[in-house]
Amino acid sequence: MADILYDFGTGRSDPSTFPAAALQAAAVKVIEEQAEELTQYPGGLGHAGLRRAMVRREGEREGVEIDPDHLVLTNGSMQAVTLTAEALQEDKGDTVLVEEFSYPGTLSAYRSLKLEMVGIRLDEGGMRIEHMEEELARLEREGRRPKFIYAISTYQNPTGFNMPAARRSQMIELAARYQVPIIEDNCYADVHYEGDIEPAVFALDNNPNHIYLGSLSKILAPGFRLGYVYARPPMLEKILARRHDAGSNYLAAAIAAEFYKNGISEHAGVTNPVLHNKRDLTLSGLRETLDDICTWSTPAGGLFIWVRVPDDTDRPKLYELAQQNGVNYLPGVSFHYANRNKPYLRLAFGHLTEQQIEAGIPVLARCIREARTSNEPRQFETLFD
Ligand SMILES: Cc1ncc(COP(=O)(O)O)c(C=O)c1O
Repeated sequence: MADILYDFGTGRSDPSTFPAAALQAAAVKVIEEQAEELTQYPGGLGHAGLRRAMVRREGEREGVEIDPDHLVLTNGSMQAVTLTAEALQEDKGDTVLVEEFSYPGTLSAYRSLKLEMVGIRLDEGGMRIEHMEEELARLEREGRRPKFIYAISTYQNPTGFNMPAARRSQMIELAARYQVPIIEDNCYADVHYEGDIEPAVFALDNNPNHIYLGSLSKILAPGFRLGYVYARPPMLEKILARRHDAGSNYLAAAIAAEFYKNGISEHAGVTNPVLHNKRDLTLSGLRETLDDICTWSTPAGGLFIWVRVPDDTDRPKLYELAQQNGVNYLPGVSFHYANRNKPYLRLAFGHLTEQQIEAGIPVLARCIREARTSNEPRQFETLFD
């Protein structure tokens, strides 16, 4: 297999903006100042300073005040995904609602827990409410109340779509009517490029069962493994009762708290323009090379572009050809809740260099044409028709 020269596979931020010097200085300071705390186990909630910094992050974006004692630091938001599912699950085979295409880490955690996923169809506004309602009504008729709805409503992974506020309110109303908690996974909201910022679901939802997940992976770096859950009692206690690891990494949290002591906007102001530019380069590469046969999303934030390839693309052949030519991407099947091999692929543009993006998209375009069984022009106008 050829070396991967153009890795559109992983959802990482831009490595050149990693604030190494500032983090080094923060590390020296906190090790000196918090040596005593570092010799102890952090406990269930985790570093108070970082919890306050994340409360400020969420509050500044959403205009909603959170109690820092309702925010629990976790080992990345992935631990929060698993912890919350375990807390709400009663039995193997319990049903949960997810987006038809969703984050593979979550899908794989839910599969391991033997949760039965019902996929809700997507359009450019995220989960389609009429389909969600249909499925909730069907499950009720069958005597199955879903344990929760898992929603990535902002800059969704993999599609990049942002659910409009009105639809968020409809989802909240439906969830309340059927008494199903929402787990909102919101790690991309601060990776924002243009347009209106839609409110987080938690900012619109008074339901005390609402669960909110956040992360530092996309605004700082995944190597910190810092995420969090915001939930109110008694839901909070239910989640904490599943936790047996004596808390998350206190040193990483102390360094991040020091780094973000004046808020998150300063560093986001450095990273977002760089990512925005990479998004634009990826989009213009797609327009120049694939406009006649593919469609794709234009995300206003986040790290992903979702591409629909022609139906007659031999998907396994495309993947092999791309790898042979040094291009990596994640195929649609990786994101499908039921592993269906639909004609899509996801391009993550955050950590490639601009040169790699400019050179890589034409290579991918050639591979897509070669993997087709015809030269027919595009048969569809949108991503989901
Ligand atoms: C929607 C979603 N949730 C959770 C995660 C996990 O992130 P973390 O690094 O915080 O565990 C990711 C990472 O890509 C993601 O896209």
